[in-house]
Amino acid sequence: MNAAVVEQNKAWIDATWEKIDKKLSKTAIKSRDKLPYTTVEGVHDDKSGKDVGWWTNGFWGGTMWLMYAATGNEEYRKTAERSEELLDEALKQYDKLHHDVGFMWHLTSGANYRITGNNASRMRNLFAAASLFSRYNIDGDFIRAWNGPEAAGYSIIDCLMNLSLLYWASEEIGDERFKKIAMRQMDMSLRDHIRPDGSTNHIVDHELEKAGVKNILAGQGLHPDSCWSRGLAWAVYGSVISYIHAGKEEYLDAARRTADYFLEHSKSTGYVPVIDFLAPEEPVYYDSTAGLCAASGMLEIAKYVSEEESVKYTEGALRILQAIDEKCCNYAEDEDALVMMGSERYPSREDYHKGVHIPIIYADFFFAEALFKLKGNAFFIW
Ligand code: GLY
Repeated sequence: MNAAVVEQNKAWIDATWEKIDKKLSKTAIKSRDKLPYTTVEGVHDDKSGKDVGWWTNGFWGGTMWLMYAATGNEEYRKTAERSEELLDEALKQYDKLHHDVGFMWHLTSGANYRITGNNASRMRNLFAAASLFSRYNIDGDFIRAWNGPEAAGYSIIDCLMNLSLLYWASEEIGDERFKKIAMRQMDMSLRDHIRPDGSTNHIVDHELEKAGVKNILAGQGLHPDSCWSRGLAWAVYGSVISYIHAGKEEYLDAARRTADYFLEHSKSTGYVPVIDFLAPEEPVYYDSTAGLCAASGMLEIAKYVSEEESVKYTEGALRILQAIDEKCCNYAEDEDALVMMGSERYPSREDYHKGVHIPIIYADFFFAEALFKLKGNAFFIW
């Protein structure tokens, strides 16, 4: 991050952090026994129990660990630990797990172990890492995203965010194979997901017996050659994560290229991004989650580039964060979600309001994480 740009924005950063802490310290207690995804009439829903394997179930615990690391408030720690306990049910179901075990455990057990040294958390995270490792298709050279015969060849751009789990395991147990598979996936994404202009494919259907692309699918974007903004955000942040852990210059170049595309295409909507950057101008569907994930990633990129670029990415991140603060945040303490206007996917014609412009838990995570960094906290959760 660029220290001068951060200093210029200090008043906004301090005031926003204070509002986040004030609201989350209350919600931490109210939603202690839940794994929230969205809200129903202002109250967090709960994905524990029958939906315990849902991919977003680590974000609430991860938010709590960040808040605990920054403030030392024990209420945050208690909720983070409870979140991890609730997730244990999912760890018992190997054949239901998917590639998002990084989102689920590295943000909860991984954070717990790195902050407190808890050995049970270390074990959970190692099991999650072994599960992700086992999804690598050796002949096709990709990490398989989901289960079921139709998804045998699918890899998705989102997986770049799960790779920190493999980098961590590699260091933790001194086994380079974990890191090598993470780098294979990143290299494959440079080839098959990230386009030369910095935009991205969402789902790639691979050959199974040799490295090769059979088909590109629209996934959560409008069509196969458009650009789903959250997929692009996963590429921005995921590429810099791989650069941080593996040090390959091509990864930092990919992070820059995708971040530049993101900033360029967010301008016309005042830095609150739309769901798909290549969709028709009307109707306008926003996705705050994409902006927040990309902004937090840009704050990382800003640490590894020239002074001039560092100003560009820090200012870019702040433009997005401030636009979302102004247009999408809800600091009311009697409602559980912090950030509104998240969207699950580009909606179909039949279902055009479903999953659009709703609060989604990872928006709160990335907003809190970005402010956590801007406040100068050093812990890196990925
Ligand atoms: N990883 C799925 C999503 O971003 O919606």
